[in-house]
Amino acid sequence: MNTETTVDPCAETDAIQENLPPCAFVLFGATGDLTRRKIIPALFDLSLQKLLPDPFVIVAFARRDKTDESFRADLKAALQEFAPKLPVDGEEWKAFSAKVYYLRSNLDDAEGYTRLSQRLDEIDKQYAIAGNRLFYLATPPENFDEIIVNLGKAGLNEAGEGGGWSRLIIEKPFGTDLETAKKLNTELREVFGEEQIYRIDHYLGKETVQNILVLRFANQIFEPLWNQKYIDHVQITVAETLGMEGRGNYFEQSGIVRDIVQNHALQVLTLIAMEPPTALEADSIRDEKVKVLKSIRPFAPEDVAAWTVRGQYGAGEMDGKEGKEQAVSYREEEGVDPQSCTETFAAFRFEVENWRWAGVPFYVQAGKRLEKRVTEVQIQFKAIPDVLFRRLDCADVRPNRLTLRIQPDEGASLEIGSKTPGPQMRVQPVTMNFQYGASFDQPIKDAYQRLILDAIRGDASLFARNDEVEAAWGLITPILDAWRDLSCPLFPNYAAGSWGPESAKNLLDGKRAWHQPE
Ligand code: BG6
Repeated sequence: MNTETTVDPCAETDAIQENLPPCAFVLFGATGDLTRRKIIPALFDLSLQKLLPDPFVIVAFARRDKTDESFRADLKAALQEFAPKLPVDGEEWKAFSAKVYYLRSNLDDAEGYTRLSQRLDEIDKQYAIAGNRLFYLATPPENFDEIIVNLGKAGLNEAGEGGGWSRLIIEKPFGTDLETAKKLNTELREVFGEEQIYRIDHYLGKETVQNILVLRFANQIFEPLWNQKYIDHVQITVAETLGMEGRGNYFEQSGIVRDIVQNHALQVLTLIAMEPPTALEADSIRDEKVKVLKSIRPFAPEDVAAWTVRGQYGAGEMDGKEGKEQAVSYREEEGVDPQSCTETFAAFRFEVENWRWAGVPFYVQAGKRLEKRVTEVQIQFKAIPDVLFRRLDCADVRPNRLTLRIQPDEGASLEIGSKTPGPQMRVQPVTMNFQYGASFDQPIKDAYQRLILDAIRGDASLFARNDEVEAAWGLITPILDAWRDLSCPLFPNYAAGSWGPESAKNLLDGKRAWHQPE
């Protein structure tokens, strides 16, 4: 008789928690927007799902005058505002918040970090944390430098007394161009080893972005076709309906390219274009992604006019909660220069110059205040040889199209030609559709949950490596430089609520058209 107990590897929740190392989570930027909107909801939701280590202690390090109690009350209010479905009146919140502490200090005050170190030693002993520390830099980027240096001076780049580990999660923006990204990498690497650094791009935590790897490499049917022989072109669309929502000051310095394209859109592109990694491990995956970035044809100044389009929204009508609403132009947004030349829309034609992709353009478009909020990848296959159906009167034979819906209607669909029912041979495109909501019981959780969990587990696969970030900036920086040297386009050049400037069509060759999701 077989007496072995079989462990179901798919019943994962308990097994995950049991295997998580205890951890002290130190939050910089603890009173900021990201903490309130994303980090605390993610942590509390993980805790409700029993996906946080036990023990797990949070130490907020910030300059405002608060106590443990008042900070816990702030977090509760943030959850009520930004995650109203999570229960904050029960025992779960009491247990979670009891392990949240507030340490007041200026970010540039070395003595504050000594106190932090002492506090973490106490916490190590009190909760048996085993010296594991995860620092989360959710501050504005101008504070990164002083935090990193002071963590190093206080010896916090090393594990606590119990052994264990010290890791650092750092938020975007990671530099504003190649030079500043390199500088930040150098500063980081003077204090932390690369294996301790987790650079967040929250797009990588999205289920649908992770699914790109699974779709490509866990299925036999796509990979043989995934190359220049069968694919005509690829389109990546990151469209948002949001305008500035109080972020005008930040966006003026950033623009859509730094905000979305250099990071989120290029991450998606690398996952679509990469070769199979040798293993599902952080460095194997990131090695392949870096190769893609390095294969993208660099933009010479003369390419920039032909291969890029930038736009800025004017006033227009957007769908609102109660029908159409009038949106102001970018230049009228709070914190924005009335003569601003900052782009709120950008489109590119990228060429991945390797054997797999030679001659297949990757069109990328991203913008604010567009008609719909939608992130999608569209793989447009080549047309079939036009021999069999061309004499039919009613044969709408189109090239196949695979659409990966990153958000909001998460899933994928494949457009294929099908015979229409009836006595004649007629062909019409139909769609095979996969929807996460219909296929799986579990809701899709926020990307931050997965990323924080992975940093605790020590898995950096979904985080950007130093050379990856620099390769992305290496591609984008010459474009931004060339734009700066050209005169400001006639902005605004698209109306809020539209699909962007007309001139974006000029990027597409032949009969190609921008995909405008319905
Ligand atoms: C952030 C950008 O990184 O991503 C925002 O700074 C943008 O401007 C956001 O709105 C989009 O994220 P998501 O997950 O809503 O698509």
